[in-house]
Amino acid sequence: MKILLTGATGLLGHAYALAAVRRGHQVTAVSNTRSSSIQGLAASHQTDAAQGEAITKLCLELWPDVIVNCAAISNPADVDANPQLAEKINVALPRQLAQIASHLGARFLHVSTDMVFDGHSNEPYRSTDMPCPKNLYGQTKLMAEREVLEHNTEDPIVLRIPILMGHSPSGQRSVHEKLLAAIHSGKRPQLFCDEIRQPCSAGNVAEALLELSERRDLHGIFHWAGSEALSRFEMGQRILQHFNLPLDSIQSVCIKDDTKNADRPAHLAFNLHPIVDKLKTRPVSFQEQLDELTFVEPLRG
Ligand SMILES: NC(=O)c1ccc[n+]([C@@H]2O[C@H](COP(=O)([O-])OP(=O)(O)OC[C@H]3O[C@@H](n4cnc5c(N)ncnc54)[C@H](OP(=O)(O)O)[C@@H]3O)[C@@H](O)[C@H]2O)c1
Repeated sequence: MKILLTGATGLLGHAYALAAVRRGHQVTAVSNTRSSSIQGLAASHQTDAAQGEAITKLCLELWPDVIVNCAAISNPADVDANPQLAEKINVALPRQLAQIASHLGARFLHVSTDMVFDGHSNEPYRSTDMPCPKNLYGQTKLMAEREVLEHNTEDPIVLRIPILMGHSPSGQRSVHEKLLAAIHSGKRPQLFCDEIRQPCSAGNVAEALLELSERRDLHGIFHWAGSEALSRFEMGQRILQHFNLPLDSIQSVCIKDDTKNADRPAHLAFNLHPIVDKLKTRPVSFQEQLDELTFVEPLRG
């Protein structure tokens, strides 16, 4: 299949490109400031998607079977710092890609986030639950979901995913990369013991996304995550254990005692039904996600 992939240099896009190339697909990678270095790509383009026109031209030239949108301003602080740019990349770009995919008869897959929920429920969120984002990042992602479903008549997929583990091309994006970099720079990170997440590896999300790209019988909003929900502090401890680092390199704190962070979504876990019964890809445990981590740049030398 001919696949056009945006966000190919990101944590998830990179993993998706690797998986799709491995499976023999012709992947055209689109990114902005960096170029994808993956061997076996059909092509790699650096294009500022905020400009709009270039992406349309590329899609019309390529006429892909599948368009996968992994591009985003994905850090909530970056969204707060530049809301206009975030609107262009997180909302206008998915709308534009959804329209183009409809026009071309291409399968469209868009990636969203658990941050569309407020985290007040102690039950894992179902894909039919009412979203209520607490921050601007979550609001832009929710707006994008609605735009995609409204502007694509070809049965698009919106896949909501949780916080990601794995190795990013930048070496600075995933949970363990950020944690180890902070420790390496002399900090003792504070992690919330009452902030629950259901992390997944970028590689496993990529496998699920690829499986969804290859079939057309599923459409709508789905949730994908790892098989375990755990606190940020517990994740930190398990990462430290994995790399044989002292457990007191991090501190446990509580959201409820921290007025500055009182607004953080406390409990973001996903109910994976119905998709979990329909895919061959299986959700991975946190240990399996740790077992994928082999290389720790910040701790060298
Ligand atoms: N990472 C997580 O923990 C997480 C959790 C939940 C949901 N998500 C969602 O998953 C998706 C992928 O996230 P990620 O963490 O892989 O993102 P990421 O690592 O931050 O990568 C973002 C990608 O978007 C591209 N991009 C940004 N601005 C662009 C522009 N103006 N024009 C063209 N491309 C642009 C970047 O290109 P350059 O690198 O070339 O600039 C990069 O390839 C996003 O939809 C995100 O909201 C991520």
